[in-house]
Amino acid sequence: MIENYIASLPKAELHLHIEGTFEPELIFKLADRNKVKLPYASVEALRKAYEFTDLQSFLDLYYACMNVLRTEEDFAELANAYFEKASKQNVVHAEIFFDPQAHTQRGISFDTVIDGLWSAVKNSKKNFGITSKLIMCFLRDQSAESAMETLNQAIPYGERIVAVGLDSAERGNPPSKFAEVFAKARACGFHATAHAGEEGPTEYVWEAINILKVKRIDHGVRSLEDPKLVQHLVESAIPLTVCPLSNVKLRVFDKMTDHNIKDMLDAGLHATINSDDPAYFGGYIGENYRSVHEALDLQQADLIKLAVNSINASFLTHTERQEYLTLFED
Ligand code: HPA
Ligand code: ZN
Repeated sequence: MIENYIASLPKAELHLHIEGTFEPELIFKLADRNKVKLPYASVEALRKAYEFTDLQSFLDLYYACMNVLRTEEDFAELANAYFEKASKQNVVHAEIFFDPQAHTQRGISFDTVIDGLWSAVKNSKKNFGITSKLIMCFLRDQSAESAMETLNQAIPYGERIVAVGLDSAERGNPPSKFAEVFAKARACGFHATAHAGEEGPTEYVWEAINILKVKRIDHGVRSLEDPKLVQHLVESAIPLTVCPLSNVKLRVFDKMTDHNIKDMLDAGLHATINSDDPAYFGGYIGENYRSVHEALDLQQADLIKLAVNSINASFLTHTERQEYLTLFED
């Protein structure tokens, strides 16, 4: 019953790492096709390794698995597999992160990555009924110089990339490290978003806002520790892309009943629900909605609010957002 209701809600997915949609079956298929040896004997053995203690323990496996992505076709297949799943959960719009440095550093060209992903993204509306955009993330545990080099590679592809983001190991890698890179990206016309306040402190959320001048905060669940920050996020209408199953899997919260998404909504924050790395964290966007509904007793009005927030928080134009919002009218 509630499952059908959640499925029926039109949803925008705004926090989704395409490399995190890499299902074990596809990992093995591509390993075989590209003749890459995996350190796991089978799909089952790989799945068994999905026991994480924190963000870093996940990232180690995440980067190891993407080593089998080699060709333009691989990247296209990965993105199309995601669109197919998302279309069944009534995702109407998706803004998809990708991590070019995780590929260029192992010898895959930037063009291979962007051409493969773009071939899926440009046809997502026609093939799956989903509009989509690409957000290029910088790996914050790499140097600012490497991020700048990556930005320079992306500039000729400005038409294909709506925004820049910041991901990977948060602790010890404050947003301020990337002040120049984000300034240049914004000057080139990219929107900006950043992971902050997932494992890192509230100061990182402030830095993302004040120094990187982001339009959204990815995760941001620790923002509730600072009442002044909450007030600022509410007054400036800066949305948070929250990923509940990810937060529990990576031990940001011990269990879903401890999650603060309901408190965020009650505080007037513009929170949204997203799946982060669904192949690794136990579910796509529908499973994320369902698990918070069950654990926190969210009401129908909360679920609608979360879905409407997701449309409003997107990088779509005002007119495009208005069109999607008509889907909520009776
Ligand atoms: N946090 C930081 N970096 C990431 C994540 C995340 O949840 N998923 C993929 N890269
Ligand atoms: Zn993320």
